[in-house]
Amino acid sequence: MIKRIGILTGGGDVPPLNAVIHSAFKHGKESGVEVVGIIGGWQGLLDKATVDLGSLNIDPEIGGTVLRSSRVNLGKIDRAHEKITGNLSDLHLDGLIVIGGEDTLSNAFHLKDVPQVLISKTIDNDVGINEPGRMVNYFTLGYPTAAQKISSFVSLKEGLRTTAYSHERIMVVESMGMHAGWLAISSAMGHPDFIIIPEFPIDYRAFSEKVADRFLRQRNVMIVVSEGAKWSDGNYVSADENDRDNFGHPKFKGAADELAKKLKADLAPLFDTRNVNAVNPSYLYRSGKPNPLDMESAALLGRDAVRLFMGGISEPLFLTLKESGRGFVSEKYYLRELDDIEGFHRFVDGRFYDSGELRVTRERMNYLDKITADLGPPVYGYPRNQKENR
Ligand code: F6P
Repeated sequence: MIKRIGILTGGGDVPPLNAVIHSAFKHGKESGVEVVGIIGGWQGLLDKATVDLGSLNIDPEIGGTVLRSSRVNLGKIDRAHEKITGNLSDLHLDGLIVIGGEDTLSNAFHLKDVPQVLISKTIDNDVGINEPGRMVNYFTLGYPTAAQKISSFVSLKEGLRTTAYSHERIMVVESMGMHAGWLAISSAMGHPDFIIIPEFPIDYRAFSEKVADRFLRQRNVMIVVSEGAKWSDGNYVSADENDRDNFGHPKFKGAADELAKKLKADLAPLFDTRNVNAVNPSYLYRSGKPNPLDMESAALLGRDAVRLFMGGISEPLFLTLKESGRGFVSEKYYLRELDDIEGFHRFVDGRFYDSGELRVTRERMNYLDKITADLGPPVYGYPRNQKENR
């Protein structure tokens, strides 16, 4: 009978983390299961750093994580399994709720005999399976809020399109996303002209011609570029290959800046390029209040994680989100079904993205319709159908 479980958050923060922690704590209390906070992700478990969640007065509507976070790769820690299982026993913890992205969750492969409920969170939306006809984990926590933000940042109704129009700007807006373009493609709800994602490297020459052509017709252009975008020779638009984190990911130094700099110089013979600008909302994508879908989903996953422990589990499993036709429900997916985390690492493919036109497809719009709202009609050259004599 499970009596006491730990909960930890790892990797980049997202708005609905406190909402999951709050929900798990509340449902644990109602059902006689003590949910204990572990401070600082996996590092906190290595250090036996815990906190009584009842003392934290958690507000589920405030973003970030009251439990703080770390990016620890257990694969690089000597005797990690022995240390973690020893500490779980010292802390009288029967299992763990682990909330993280691909890297944090991959640590479960080193602890296959520890009962764990793994909940994915990342604005990158790259944890799950999106195969034709098979979708596991419709979205990751944090993605709906970030998708709504990026769409509004570029849109006419709420974002940068108006200043792009007023000042005849070419604007390059950076999206987070190291390897996957899910966040960048979600900006389609705000109707940018072009979207560039890591999965489809770009031919700079063809791209700059498209941008020039669009600018000459429309007098403003909105481009969204993922931080992990690549040129067709395989090199990153902007990354320092020598500066890497604990999981070996390179540090990105501003793809939007780099792209804007190149366009400014290369298109100067064609028109005035002083108003080619880069905007990088950066951590704003991960900050602030969770949107309603993130809030609801976090509450659902926190509650169902505790219920799973009450039903009895003896190994790690993912608690994923499934579209039921009448909203989202939780669904189990066992870690043992995978050889490694790569099997649960998903990317944008040609069903969702048209690499010729550098925009999304109708199929992607159908997928995203369930996650975020379209921000009005695609009015690129505001005001609509205006004819000017230049
Ligand atoms: O994985 C989530 C994410 O937000 C990525 O999109 C981004 O590359 C990364 O985290 C940045 O993380 P940090 O600067 O917090 O290390």
